[in-house]
Amino acid sequence: MLSARGLSILVTESSLMTVEPPVGIEPTTSRLQGECSGQLSYRGAEPSITAPGQRYPSGRLGIDTKKIYGDGVPPTRIVRHVPAGGKEVDTPMATVTYDKASRIYPGSDRPAVNELNLEIGDGEFLVLVGPSGCGKSTSLRMLAGLEDVDRGRILIEGKDVTNLPPKSRDIAMVFQNYALYPHMSVYENMAFALKLRKTPKAEIDRRVKEAAALLQLDEYLSRKPKALSGGQRQRVAMGRAIVREPQVFLMDEPLSNLDAKLRVQTRSQIATLQAKLGITTVYVTHDQVEAMTMGHRVAVMLDGVLQQCDTPRALYDTPDNIFVAGFIGSPAMNIKTVALTENGANFGSLAVPLTREQVAAAQGAEGKVTVGFRPEATDLVAPTEGGLPIVVDLVEDLGSDANVYGHAAMDEGSERFVVRTDRRNMPTMGETVFIKPQANQVHLFNAKTGLRIK
Ligand SMILES: Nc1ncnc2c1ncn2[C@@H]1O[C@H](COP(=O)(O)OP(=O)(O)O)[C@@H](O)[C@H]1O
Ligand SMILES: [Mg+2]
Repeated sequence: MLSARGLSILVTESSLMTVEPPVGIEPTTSRLQGECSGQLSYRGAEPSITAPGQRYPSGRLGIDTKKIYGDGVPPTRIVRHVPAGGKEVDTPMATVTYDKASRIYPGSDRPAVNELNLEIGDGEFLVLVGPSGCGKSTSLRMLAGLEDVDRGRILIEGKDVTNLPPKSRDIAMVFQNYALYPHMSVYENMAFALKLRKTPKAEIDRRVKEAAALLQLDEYLSRKPKALSGGQRQRVAMGRAIVREPQVFLMDEPLSNLDAKLRVQTRSQIATLQAKLGITTVYVTHDQVEAMTMGHRVAVMLDGVLQQCDTPRALYDTPDNIFVAGFIGSPAMNIKTVALTENGANFGSLAVPLTREQVAAAQGAEGKVTVGFRPEATDLVAPTEGGLPIVVDLVEDLGSDANVYGHAAMDEGSERFVVRTDRRNMPTMGETVFIKPQANQVHLFNAKTGLRIK
């Protein structure tokens, strides 16, 4: 394990430098492995020295204006602006730790956030996701210092910030309603916070221009917000956060004001930008697709309680409980509670075989077991192959493939199922088809606790 940003940069002159990346290293797409340990792992070799005095990579702002949003990986890497003098400069590290952090709003007896434990690695892009009201914004605002922490602690880079005011925390936040100042130009909007802090003019100018280049806003610096598109306004809001060069970025549903197409575009831009800047980022969304596509890791919350924090792949492959299983993936996993027999789960004509260990782990739930299978891991089979008959009541033709919805008569009434199918295989409404989950693609949960059975 190696945290490239922990390396120091040796600089010989005052400039913003761009450094060619050594071939084969792509630390910006680092994915966190395993549990919530917050350790970054990098693909490829150790970042090597590319030229005397230039080390790769570092975080933060740089120039190389044109290439930032080229297609795909940019040909240059960004090294932070550092003072002259040839000194070694440490790149700042920023891990974030929630240590049993709780928030109980006055007048409420139930915590909005309940003993949240989370370790976020330096440079990590962590997404908090969950349904409306589950405590995402509250968690973020506690980290920002905008909300009290009633129990537990919050640490940034190991330092307890629980009782520090927001301005002492070196974080920058992008909100859902990123109201720009309408009477100010793009430049002034981005410069505003720095002006308040009495940052020298030349420094403000440098930072605004760098951020504008990074966000492809150079041409619009003198425009007023009303003369910008929604996407450009969103980028100005990002720019306002970037110019502050914070230790941590916090973003609360920053894409919700954009239309669907722009949202998809902008989410990849934000992910790319985050990777380039290397700044630890906590990003809130209710949209599981956004979460899965952007996050190095995704923390799923429900009713103020963290359900699971893992890589997108692990959340999809091994959801810890029924909620995560149903929340991640679209259309949602088929999740049904059925009778548990000696050798399996009983769907009537469809039997899902279970091992003896699985049967043992399913005990304690009144002879039931909860079975989940994803639409895309379910096949339509011939009537003789032991599938479950369903009557088709809706077919969504997606062009490339189709979602087939239907219902089956089961012990406890009619149950709905959905199957993703090849479009050549598309049944018609009213037809009876036979569905069967693919072998080894079945998720099992204890019907009482809702917890995954290994
Ligand atoms: N200022 C507040 N006072 C009282 N209750 C609040 C306040 N802000 C949020 N809540 C409650 O706390 C819970 C979590 O809210 P929030 O963190 O905004 O959820 P999310 O961002 O996931 O939609 C909700 O039940 C919400 O009603
Ligand atoms: Mg919210």
